[in-house]
Amino acid sequence: MKAYIAAVHVVALAASYMSISSFLTPPKDYILKKYDFTKWSPAGPHDARSPCPVLNSLANHYILPHDGKNLTISLLQQALPGALNLEYSLATVLATGGLFSSPNFWDGKFSLSDLNKHNFIEHDGSISRADFGLTGDGHSFNHEIFNEYMSVYKGSKETSIEAAARGRQLRMDTERSRDPDFTYGLPQHIISYGETVLVLSALRGGKELAVPVEWLDILWREERFPFNEGWRTATEPIGFGTVHDFKAKLVELSGGMGSELALMGENFINRLSLSIKGFFKQFYRPLSQTRVII
Ligand code: HEM
Repeated sequence: MKAYIAAVHVVALAASYMSISSFLTPPKDYILKKYDFTKWSPAGPHDARSPCPVLNSLANHYILPHDGKNLTISLLQQALPGALNLEYSLATVLATGGLFSSPNFWDGKFSLSDLNKHNFIEHDGSISRADFGLTGDGHSFNHEIFNEYMSVYKGSKETSIEAAARGRQLRMDTERSRDPDFTYGLPQHIISYGETVLVLSALRGGKELAVPVEWLDILWREERFPFNEGWRTATEPIGFGTVHDFKAKLVELSGGMGSELALMGENFINRLSLSIKGFFKQFYRPLSQTRVII
């Protein structure tokens, strides 16, 4: 009987491994599409948009549906590798994250505006969005916030990994000091470093993530890929390895994993004490409101 149960476990594990790995591998008939970046128009009033400058730009270029709706995993498995040279497996994982934000998960569709959910993927300390806890809007582009990030590139024509680390850190520090609801745990750590790495790699950042500073302005402020200015799809594929290597370097430049863990720990304790205070507050009634019965 024991041998039978063990065999069932082995078969189940092998089946789930095979289905996960086939999910992350392109099917045999997969064809890498080429996309035209010359077509572009900004979002109209009825188009859905997200806090992600890259997905918004892809929609503006008609590479994703221009209305930002009915996105599917298979659409992104085409668009992200074809337009940005993301590896299929990375595109699949990102697209699955997007689909999880959808109230129509079972239809396999999501809209860019489904991504406007605080602390799902959208997080505090963004490069160009205000903190949700302070403004109630963590998804719209905010010039003031983006100017703060861009201040680290003042006087430079190109980005560098050092400045990118400083810019990211600056945004985190600003919001941490003024947002009582500031949240920074492991998911936010992974997502926010991942975003910096991905975008600078997709803008053809090469070895040290050096990209013309003007291109960041175009991508964020106009939500357009700087094709007219010379940008072309990366020639090196961008995969988990790329993200891992650059992320490690960025973390090192931002004080190392020790300080990241300290930050996450401090945040955990702050949030825990806020929840405990909130819990006890419901039982507390000021003395002036207490009726004295003699
Ligand atoms: C289906 C795939 C993707 C999904 C679902 C997604 C979702 C998101 C979301 C929800 C945010 C907001 C996070 C925040 O609060 O700052 C975001 C930000 C960001 N995303 Fe994406 N994204 C995807 C693909 C990509 C790709 C492929 C890139 C780069 C090549 C990218 C680059 C960025 C950057 C740089 C930000 C930071 C924006 C800022 O802080 O101003 N994303 N993304």
